Amino acid sequence: MTIGIICVSDRCSKGLCEDKSGPLIREMLLDYGDNFHYLIVPDEKDEIEKALISLCDDSLCDAVFTTGGTGFAPRDITPEATLAVIEKLIPGIPEIIRAESYKITKNAMLSRAVAGIRGKTLIVNLPGSPKAVKESLEIVIPVLPHAVETLSGKTQSCGGNYGKGGGSAEI
Ligand code: MTE
Repeated sequence: MTIGIICVSDRCSKGLCEDKSGPLIREMLLDYGDNFHYLIVPDEKDEIEKALISLCDDSLCDAVFTTGGTGFAPRDITPEATLAVIEKLIPGIPEIIRAESYKITKNAMLSRAVAGIRGKTLIVNLPGSPKAVKESLEIVIPVLPHAVETLSGKTQSCGGNYGKGGGSAEI
């Protein structure tokens, strides 16, 4: 699987702080990805859109994870940039991330994250902090292989006999 990671942060993009969440996403997905692309962009809608489009259309990522910019801060704009480039919305992923995260922290309600599909790429917004990334990504990982396989067109049905946490059957 080819995986894209975009750190959305004004401070990290200027080199004023180190991105810890991007490398954490990579580490958590090492068993799934054989190719990783990593970008850091400021909280600018057009720059986030450009990064997403490049990872989807040029790098042909199977999945792209953004980290940061999903909250209420004045410059948080990652969900709006994501909505501008996706072709299909996936409400279930952020719904479940928020619902499960709410059991850990009530602040989960403050995440405006979205997920969607552009071409054959799954895009998922994650929060910015490493703690929130870990808690959120753990929720998505079990369905990632099936989601990506279905998107690629290799599996055309969800009616297979899936094992614990997903999987797929060829038809
Ligand atoms: N989700 C989980 N699982 N754990 C967290 O600590 N923090 C919340 C929320 N989601 C959090 C979480 C907070 S405090 C905010 S402001 C929003 O994510 C948005 O985070 P972001 O602005 O860093 O993207």
